[in-house]
Amino acid sequence: MQAFDLVIFGGTGDLSMRKLLPALYRAQAQGSVPVGSKIMVCSRKQKDYDQMQSIIEEKLKSFLKTDEFEVKQWQKFSKILQPVLLDLTDLSKGWDKFASLFEAKSERVRLFYLAVIPSIYGSCCKNLSKLKLITENSRLVVEKPLGYDLTSAEAINETMAKYFKEAQIYRIDHYLGKETVQNLLTLRFSNFLFENIWDSKAIDHIQISISEQVGLEGRAGFYDDVGAMRDMVQNHLLQLLCLLAIDSPNQLSSEAIRLEKVKVLKALRPLLGDDINKSTVRGQYVSGLINDKKVTGYLDELDDYQSNTETFVALKVFIDSWRWAGVPFYLRTGKRLKKRSAEIVVQFKSVTHNVYSQSNQKLKPNQLIIKLQPDEKIQLRLMANDIGGGTSSLEPILLNLDFGNNQNHPTSSSYQRLLLDAINGNSTLFIHRDEVKAAWKWVDPIIEHWKANETSPELYSAGSWGPSKSNEIFEKKHQYWHDVNK
Ligand code: BG6
Repeated sequence: MQAFDLVIFGGTGDLSMRKLLPALYRAQAQGSVPVGSKIMVCSRKQKDYDQMQSIIEEKLKSFLKTDEFEVKQWQKFSKILQPVLLDLTDLSKGWDKFASLFEAKSERVRLFYLAVIPSIYGSCCKNLSKLKLITENSRLVVEKPLGYDLTSAEAINETMAKYFKEAQIYRIDHYLGKETVQNLLTLRFSNFLFENIWDSKAIDHIQISISEQVGLEGRAGFYDDVGAMRDMVQNHLLQLLCLLAIDSPNQLSSEAIRLEKVKVLKALRPLLGDDINKSTVRGQYVSGLINDKKVTGYLDELDDYQSNTETFVALKVFIDSWRWAGVPFYLRTGKRLKKRSAEIVVQFKSVTHNVYSQSNQKLKPNQLIIKLQPDEKIQLRLMANDIGGGTSSLEPILLNLDFGNNQNHPTSSSYQRLLLDAINGNSTLFIHRDEVKAAWKWVDPIIEHWKANETSPELYSAGSWGPSKSNEIFEKKHQYWHDVNK
């Protein structure tokens, strides 16, 4: 990799301090940042060089793991940091000086990270263009959720497209940077075992659950406008669903994978009218106990104590395709739930005839359980004889492939991977405009229906598994949420 220029617009904001700068610090510590690279941390607030450096140092200390921050390493890292005072909306404030910081070499990669609110994207891109800072080797990186709905997402995409080619735009979904998520593709497409049973003939249903223990973490202003559907389902959960449901791409190129993902998103059965009441549950947490500690309710974390925003969503989703006809996908995500976890359960059909029925033995269906975090595991539930138990009873057993615990892989590791991919021009793990469009097209009518019907979210206690109504979403009696502790 050649030395590059990386610019963080919104450099002193939450995303930059929590994820981007720790990811870059770690990348440099691991030797992945070539000598001569520059990281420009742009901010609108007047601060001198030393002030800015010490703010970044403090934040790194708090957001990196304790043993990761080293004074020597920080001294090295701080040398490539270049604080820049810039008003993103006003070309007369700081832009000339900013422009002078770039090297003239056209082959040098420039990466512009828009860690700011989307309403500023336009002026940022326009100013970069006016100052001729956008070169062939420039890339633009933006965060999810892109937009608020299909219309606003398309408006943002149009704006960016005026200044950057689609191939230069990298839309981040940090879940795609998680190693365990990449492992999903490997599991599916490098093992013959699963290929022939990955469809409605063999699979009963699939569950995707992302549960969080955290609440708003000081992001009330952002979150209350957005809610769990836009914050998590429109992007992270639908992306996981895509990786589980796609047909095999003919190669692992970004183009081939994207085509398959778009096919899945377009085949999602639209949820409309009364289907929405039957197939979705939205919830909001009230106070409760997490790890034996009392935590306040969602409304207490807001300023005006009034909000219908959902902090929990459960959905039943069908994909209308030959492969997935009739297979329900159950998605669930929420804040302030009992445990932090992300896992996928693929439940296979029961055997067609139970030859053990005369001895009253009950057979449990096979399950493939893919734990993404905090534990990284792939488990296969099989039925076997309880050997050594003195009886000839059948028991479910787990084949367990344990990759360790991903407390060692903080979220900023996903950013590290994705930032380096973007610098290297590898867009495989990024979201294409067509995917954003297809995802919003499916999500919008659900949110509009909720709004039009003014349905209040179901309340659930912090520390629970969400509203009990989410247990009623299942198609069949034998289906229920997998116990995350298992
Ligand atoms: C972000 C959401 O995209 O993902 C947050 O905006 C959420 O609300 C976070 O907390 C979860 O990410 P992770 O990697 O901690 O599961």
